[in-house]
Amino acid sequence: MQIRFDDSSLRSEVVGEANGITSKEIREHTAQAIEALKGFKKISEDGLQGFPHLPFQTKTANEILKFAQSVRGTFDTVCLVGIGGSALGAWALDCGLRGPHPVQPAFSTRNPRLVILDNVDPSFTAAALASMDPKKTFTVVIAKSGSTAETVATFLIVRDWMMKKLGRKAARRIAAVTTIGSGDLHKLAEREGYTEFGIPKNVGGRFSVLSPVGMLPAALVGLDIRKILKGAAAITHECWQPDLKKNTALRAALMHYLAWTLKNKPIQVAFPYSNYLWGTAFWFRQLWAESLGKARTRDGVEVHVGQTPVAALGATDQHSQVQLYIEGPNDKVFTFWTVEKFSGNGRIPKAKLGLEAFDYLGGQTLAKLIDAEQRSTAAALAEAGRPSCTFTLGKLDAEHLGGFLQLMEFETALMGELLNINAFDQEGVELGKRFTYGLMGRAGFESYRERLKEFEKKRP
Ligand code: PA5
Repeated sequence: MQIRFDDSSLRSEVVGEANGITSKEIREHTAQAIEALKGFKKISEDGLQGFPHLPFQTKTANEILKFAQSVRGTFDTVCLVGIGGSALGAWALDCGLRGPHPVQPAFSTRNPRLVILDNVDPSFTAAALASMDPKKTFTVVIAKSGSTAETVATFLIVRDWMMKKLGRKAARRIAAVTTIGSGDLHKLAEREGYTEFGIPKNVGGRFSVLSPVGMLPAALVGLDIRKILKGAAAITHECWQPDLKKNTALRAALMHYLAWTLKNKPIQVAFPYSNYLWGTAFWFRQLWAESLGKARTRDGVEVHVGQTPVAALGATDQHSQVQLYIEGPNDKVFTFWTVEKFSGNGRIPKAKLGLEAFDYLGGQTLAKLIDAEQRSTAAALAEAGRPSCTFTLGKLDAEHLGGFLQLMEFETALMGELLNINAFDQEGVELGKRFTYGLMGRAGFESYRERLKEFEKKRP
C-alpha cells in the first residue's frame, strides 16, 4: 500500500512567501507538531479517543463478517438509516470501492445496492421506498445517540413498511448499530429482537467509519472489510511516528495548520481527481468541519476557529469552480487527491478526422488526460500564488481506502491538538438537535421550544 503526500506546492519557493510556507516556519513549528502528536497519543492511550484502535478490533470484524455471511443472499438492497457520521462513512466506502450508483452493476441478491436514507425529505424517502421491495431489503439503522430525530423518524417509516409485508419476521431483517447498553434505539432493538452491533463509547460519529457504523453496511454489500481494516492498521502504525518525514498525517496536519494560520487560508478545497473518491470528499467535509469548527480552546478561551472544507471534483469542477479559485480571493488551500493507477486506462481510439481538436487525443488515454488536468490545475494555481498539496493513492482498493480514511482522521485529530481545541465534541450540532426535539414535542425539551419561539418572534 502506498499513500504519498507532496507538499512542494505549499512552499514559499513555489507560491511566494506571502502564500507559501518557508523552511524556517516549518522548523520553528516542528516541536509544536511533535507535542501535538504526544498530546493525542496520551488521549488515545487514556482511552478518551477510540478511533486509532478500531483497525485492530478483529473480534468485532469477525462477528460482522459472520453475521453478513449468515444473511447474504436474502436481500438485494441494504437500506441504511442514519445521518452525519452514521451515514457518510458507508457512502465513502461504497462509492470508493464500487463506484457511484449509476456505474454499479445491476443490483441483485449477489450484488446488493446500498440505499442511504440520510435525510427527511419526504419525496426522497417515498421514492426510495417505492424503489425497494421490503421482502428483499435488509435495513441497518445507525445512531450512536439512539435518538437523532431524522434517523428515528425515517426508521419508524421503514420499520412500518417492513412490518406491513413481513409482520414480526421484519425484525430478522433489521440490524441496529448504536451505543451498546444505552439509548432508546438499543432499548427498541432489545425489545424487538434486532441484531445489534455496538459503537464504542469513545468513538464519535465522524470518526466511526471503521467501527460497525461503516463495517456492517460494507460487509453486507460484499466489501472486503478485512482489507479495509488492514490498510487502516498499517497507516495507524505510521501515524504514531514522531517524525515529520515518516508520519504523513503529522506532516499534512502541520502544513495545513501553517497554511491556514500563517498564510491566512480559512478554506480548504478537497479536490479528488476520481469520481470514486467523491463520497470520501463528502465524508471528509464533515470530519474537518465538525471537528475543527470550535468556539473555544481547551482552556476556555473564545477563538471561533475553523477552516471551511469545500469539495470539488477534478476534472469536472475545473469547468465550474476553478475560475473562482484562480482569480477570486486568495483564501484557499487546495488538497488534491489523486490515484496513480486506475483500474483501466481508458484508451482513446485513434481517429484521423483531420480536425485539430480531435486528432491529437487519439491513441492517448483518459488516465494520462486526468493526470495532465490535475497537474495543469496545480501549476495554474501556483502561478496565481495559490498553494496546493497532493495526496496520491497507489490505487483505489480496499486497503488504500481504509488507509486513507484513517490518515484523514489522524490528520484531523492532530490539527485539533495543534489548535488546542477539542476536535471530538460538537456542541453546535447538539443545540440544533435540541431545538428540533423541542419543536417536534419531545418531552424534556420544552425550554428549547420556548427559546426557538423567542428567536422567531424577533424576526420581522
Ligand atoms: O460526528 C458526529 O458525532 C455527528 O455528526 C453524528 O454522527 C450525527 O449527528 C448523527 O448522530 P447519531 O449517530 O447519534 O444519530
